Amino acid sequence: ASMNVLVCGGAGYIGSHMVKVLQEHGHNPVVFDNLSTGHAESIPEEMLVRGDLRDISSLRRVFAEHSFDAVMHFAARSIVAESVEKPAEYYENNVAGTLNLLNAMMEEGVRRFVFSSTAAVYGNPLGGDGAAASSARLIDEEHSVAPLNPYGRTKLHVEQALRDFAPAYGLRSVSLRYFNAAGADPSGEIGESHEPETHLIPNILRAALGTGPALHIFGDDYDTPDGTCVRDYIHVNDLADAHLRALGFMQEERGAHVFNLGNGKGFSVREVLAAACEVTGKSIPHEVSPRRSGDAAVLVADSAKARRVLGWQPRYVDLRELMETAWRWHGAQRY
Ligand code: UFG
Repeated sequence: ASMNVLVCGGAGYIGSHMVKVLQEHGHNPVVFDNLSTGHAESIPEEMLVRGDLRDISSLRRVFAEHSFDAVMHFAARSIVAESVEKPAEYYENNVAGTLNLLNAMMEEGVRRFVFSSTAAVYGNPLGGDGAAASSARLIDEEHSVAPLNPYGRTKLHVEQALRDFAPAYGLRSVSLRYFNAAGADPSGEIGESHEPETHLIPNILRAALGTGPALHIFGDDYDTPDGTCVRDYIHVNDLADAHLRALGFMQEERGAHVFNLGNGKGFSVREVLAAACEVTGKSIPHEVSPRRSGDAAVLVADSAKARRVLGWQPRYVDLRELMETAWRWHGAQRY
């Protein structure tokens, strides 16, 4: 059945892909976004409600004007280094803002919530710091949580609130712990665009195009096969598909649930760079720089739970295919 879904942060990178997928499946998204980092051009104009989670009156207004079956929440500050410099902004947006949103939902009787969480809740994973570990030790949801920075802590605080809200208020929720969101819709119409850009793949593609500086490889002395950090890159449309499944799951299931979302396969910074050279056909200027603080050596997901419980199956398992979608967007970048 068609659902009315409030998509907070729907003008951002992952949110805008979600909006497209919701529409393609016959649902009715309404986007709530303050456009602080999002792009109005990334969604249909008539869908956008400008508002801020820190402003309770703007939240009340959007709930008064629509009747929602569920809320998806992508609106957050998400740069690790910035969270160390400006923790107050992170707690204000990511924790206080989310509590405002949950309170507005409770007032209106909306009781289904999909939350964008992160692999950053795991911190420096146990056994994740050795070359041998990179293939052997996947992180599952039972792994201890110990975020290394304020960003990861704000996400964990919300997950914990959701666990407490479930029995007390009957709030059903799914927290999705993304590993490294990457790629773009194959249409090439929407994609990843941050300012400043901190993420690996857009920085590589900007270096390829000459619209950004040479890529800095942050450290090549990690205990990994080629010395550079290993990450699990998961396509943004595969993430969106998991959210859709989470909506269906909450029709049946009560409580607060947590799922990892990743491919289960790690690629080093050098491997990602090599894939980009192949796909773009360009030689990409790069240099080795010192380690970036707070980077774990290896982060690779065990997503067996999402596969088993949600029936989720990522489609972009090939790094080159994923890179091609990112490249299509970067070549024709519209915002
Ligand atoms: N990297 C570079 N050069 C760059 C950018 C990144 O070498 O210009 C390296 C990083 O050191 C890291 C890897 O590429 O090893 C990936 O870096 P990203 O910044 O793209 O992604 P992160 O793994 O740091 O961060 C992602 C999300 C965060 C989340 C984190 C969980 O973007 O929101 O995963 O650990 F917190």
